[in-house]
Amino acid sequence: MARQLRTQVAIIGAGPAGLMLGALLARRGVDSVILEARSRDYIERRIRAGVLEQGSVDAMHEVGAGERMRAHGLVHDGTILRFAGRSHRIDFRALTGKAVTIYSQHELVCDLVAHRLAAGAPLAFEVDDVRLGDVATARPTVRYRHAGDEVELACDAVAGCDGFHGVARAAIPADRLRVFERDYPYGWLGILADVAPSSHELVYAHHDRGFALLSMRSPEVSRLYLQCAPDEDLAAWSDDRIWSELALRLGADDFTLRRGPITQRSVTPMRSFVAEPMRHGRLALAGDAAHIVPPTGAKGLNLAIADVRLLADAFAALCTRGDDRLLDAYSATCLRRVWKVERFSAWMTQLLHRADEPGDNAATAAFRDRLQRAELDYVTSSRAAATTLAENYVGLPLVDA
Ligand code: APR
Ligand code: PHB
Repeated sequence: MARQLRTQVAIIGAGPAGLMLGALLARRGVDSVILEARSRDYIERRIRAGVLEQGSVDAMHEVGAGERMRAHGLVHDGTILRFAGRSHRIDFRALTGKAVTIYSQHELVCDLVAHRLAAGAPLAFEVDDVRLGDVATARPTVRYRHAGDEVELACDAVAGCDGFHGVARAAIPADRLRVFERDYPYGWLGILADVAPSSHELVYAHHDRGFALLSMRSPEVSRLYLQCAPDEDLAAWSDDRIWSELALRLGADDFTLRRGPITQRSVTPMRSFVAEPMRHGRLALAGDAAHIVPPTGAKGLNLAIADVRLLADAFAALCTRGDDRLLDAYSATCLRRVWKVERFSAWMTQLLHRADEPGDNAATAAFRDRLQRAELDYVTSSRAAATTLAENYVGLPLVDA
């Protein structure tokens, strides 16, 4: 016999989307249970993104989990675009009145986990074999195994916050789901290094040898990336080769790259992906479960948080007033914003990467290269073009007027 549990909202996945949704629902007086496949230790150490839009910062404060972020987050008023060995600053503050905050995704996850556990709200780690049932009805269920028990969780609604490889998206019937995607012919080789960042602001560099990015996690820890093949063999990259390549691609007259011990390294392929719709009956998808962006615009984490800010209001209206209008509108409302962020992320990616498209002849490749240089020149010489980049980078409004 399965152990019977009941809650208002069953949340699958304790990434930023699931944890923030749980916290926002609690603020609205709605109970939830969060089910996570991995251990607490695993999700708290997983190195991911690190740039927060103001809307994401506001959400952390709204749920009361923003104290450490306020103390340790680094506010950045602009960013550097570097090409042809020259630096061009995009001044977010002057162009939009806004800024971004550098704060590690895994720190944000730690803060939200601690906040939830301190409140005594249910969060189960290392759950197995999660199965969604009856999501098209008003009485969905989630079955799973936890600590040797078979559990059946009855609920009013289910949130699929289980990332790209999760199970929730598959609970939408295949004939209802439409997928849009693009795989890029390159990836990012990323490192974390114990060395003070060589620039106060992020540096996005376009170079003939490929894209490079200088980012950071704190005043003592640098995060750097190099464009590479999507299946690049990490074993072929000694520390010295990584640092030399970064120094070449990030090079500029006024710039010296500081080196330090590399503490983590990985290769990530780049993909754009959207699944439509984001809701089926009482199941709603949020975050990477519904969409992936290439990391060039620093949008994945922010998009996940924007989704659940909308979803929390929709679930609260359903659970406290029986009003399902916001949930009905959730997919269309979210997707309007999602597609704009997909557009920006794909645009930043093609602006900065060296693209060797299979099948191009020399003249076609040379033409695309000239267009890319003209676009970089335009973005850094026209206030209108720079404003377009800046307003997307700091974050579009949650919903348009
Ligand atoms: N059951 C329970 N949990 C699951 C299952 C499952 N079947 N499958 C996956 N999960 C968990 C994963 O272990 C992970 O902790 O769901 C969580 C999904 O979290 P993320 O992948 O972090 O996705 P999301 O919360 O949407 O965050 C958005 O933005 O910076 C980007 O991709 C980056 O993680 C980031 C994302
Ligand atoms: C990061 O710090 O990990 C980071 C920063 C900016 C990006 C992508 C990743 O565009």
